[in-house]
Amino acid sequence: MDSNSEQRLNFSNPSLFPFNITEQNLLEPSCSRTVNFEDALVLVDNLVFAQIGRHLSEAEITILKGAWNDYDYEEIAKNSPYSLNYLQRRLAPQLWDVLSATIGNGNRVYKKNIRNFLEQLLSSRKYHTQLLSEQPISTEKSVRIIGRQLPDISSFYGRTQELSDLKKIINKQPCISLIGVPGIGKTALATKLIAELSVESQPRFDCFIWKSVAHAPLVQDLVAELIELIQPVDPLPEYTQARITVLLKQLQSRRCLLVLDEFDLLFQRNNFEQRLEYRTFFRRLVEEQHQSCLLSIGRVLPNEFDSLITAKRPIQCFKIKGLDTDAAMQLLAAQGLTDQQKCQDLITTYRGNPLELQTAIDKIKYFFAGNTKTFFENPTTFVSSEFEAMLDQMFGAILSELEKKIMIYLAERMVSNSKFVNFTTLLSDLSQKQNLHVSTSEIIKGLENLERQSLIEINKDPITQEISFALLPVIKKYITLDPLGLVHTSHTSPQIAIAS
Ligand SMILES: Nc1ncnc2c1ncn2[C@@H]1O[C@H](COP(=O)(O)OP(=O)(O)OP(=O)(O)O)[C@@H](O)[C@H]1O
Ligand SMILES: [Mg+2]
Repeated sequence: MDSNSEQRLNFSNPSLFPFNITEQNLLEPSCSRTVNFEDALVLVDNLVFAQIGRHLSEAEITILKGAWNDYDYEEIAKNSPYSLNYLQRRLAPQLWDVLSATIGNGNRVYKKNIRNFLEQLLSSRKYHTQLLSEQPISTEKSVRIIGRQLPDISSFYGRTQELSDLKKIINKQPCISLIGVPGIGKTALATKLIAELSVESQPRFDCFIWKSVAHAPLVQDLVAELIELIQPVDPLPEYTQARITVLLKQLQSRRCLLVLDEFDLLFQRNNFEQRLEYRTFFRRLVEEQHQSCLLSIGRVLPNEFDSLITAKRPIQCFKIKGLDTDAAMQLLAAQGLTDQQKCQDLITTYRGNPLELQTAIDKIKYFFAGNTKTFFENPTTFVSSEFEAMLDQMFGAILSELEKKIMIYLAERMVSNSKFVNFTTLLSDLSQKQNLHVSTSEIIKGLENLERQSLIEINKDPITQEISFALLPVIKKYITLDPLGLVHTSHTSPQIAIAS
C-alpha cells in the first residue's frame, strides 16, 4: 500500500462501516453466492456517495462489473467505449483508493478481491434490509437521491457538532434554514448531511431531492418540477395553489428531504407578485401537515420569513459559522501549511471560512511560490471573488445610506484599533463625530439588518451583558479598497486610509 492511499484510508469514516470485514474472512468462501452485481452496485454506489459525495461514473462501473466477472483489464476495455490505458492506469488506481477508504475497513481493495468484499457486505442482513428494501416512494431498490449536482466532499473537515444538531431536528421540523456568508460551507454541510442520512440503518427519509433555485424559477414551475421528481401526476393542475396542494399530499404520504439551495435568490430575483407567491408556498409548507422536511440554504433569511418566525411557526434558522480551529487546521495542513501560529493567524483573519482560506492559500501559492515566510513578513487580507460580489451587491443595491455609514464607521474604527466597539460608543460617535441626525431606533434597526445579512460581528460581554460590534477583516478590506466605488459615495463619508 503506498503512503498516499494509506493517508486516504485514515479518513475513512468507521461509522459508515458497521461490519467487521477482516483479511481473514475475506479469504474464507463468501457466505452467499446468490447476490448479483446490480445489488452490489447499488450498495457500493450508496456507500461511495456517503463517503465522498459523488456517485460512481459509468467508466468506474465498467471496471467494477469487469472485476466482478473476473475479466482482465484488456477484456474490460475491449467490451467498453474506454481505452485500456484510461481504465487500467488512470481510473482504476483512484477507484481502488476510494473503495479501500469506503469499504476496505483497513484493508486494500483491488480488482481481485472486490467481489469478495461486496459479497460479504451484501450477505449482512442489516445492510440488505437497509438498502435493498422497497421504499414506499419508489420501485427503486435504494434510497433515492435526485438531482446529482452536489459538490465534492471528499476533503470535508469538522462540522461534527453542526451535523449532530441538524440530525436531531431534521425530521422534527418541517422547515430548516441554513444561513451564512458566501463560502462558509452551507452547501458542503448539507451535502455531507444527505450523504450521512442516506446510509443510516433506519432511514428517516424515503427520498432526497436537491434543487438549486439560483435561476429563480416561478413557483408553479418549481412545484411542477418537484411533483415530477417525487411522483409525476397527469394531468398536472393548472393553477399554482392546486399544484402546491398536490405536492403537499405527496409530502404527507412520503418522507422527503427537500433541499432548495440558494433559495434567498428566489426572493431577490423575482418581482413582487412572484415573491408573494413564494411566501404563500413556504407558508403552506411550514403550516400544513406533512412528514417531510424543507431544508432551505441561503446567505440570508428573506424578510418574507419574518412573519412566520414572529408567529413562532415551526421553522428553524441555523446560522453557519466558520470551521472550528481543528477542522481549519486540517484544511490548511492538506494544502501543505503546517506552521501552527501562521495557520492560526489565517484562521483568525478569515474566521475559519473555508472558501476564504482556500482563496488565500491559492494566492500565497501562486504569488509567493508557496513561500509562506515571505507572505507572513508582509501579510495582507485577500477577498474572494464570491465575497466581493456579495459586497458589491450589498453596497450597490441593498444597504441603506445609514447602514453604509455604520459599516464605514466600523471599518475606520477597526483600522485605528481593531477591537470591538461597544454600543454606547457607537451611538455617541455616530451622532457627534459623524454628524448623523438619526434616532437611536433607526440605528438599532440598521444594526439589526446588518447582523441579519452577516455583515457585522456582535459580541456580548458575559459579565456586563454589553454588546459590541466589529467587522470581518475581509469586509474591512473591501470597505477600505472600495473596488467599485459603491461604498464611498457623495452620501457617505470621505474615503478612509487603505489598510493592509
Ligand atoms: N467542512 C469543510 N471542509 C473542507 N472544505 C469545505 C468545508 N465546507 C466547505 N468547504 C469548501 O469551501 C468551499 C465553499 O463551500 P460551499 O460551497 O459549501 O459554501 P457556501 O456557503 O455554500 O457558499 P455560497 O454562499 O457561495 O453558496 C468549497 O470549495 C467547499 O468544498
Ligand atoms: Mg452554496
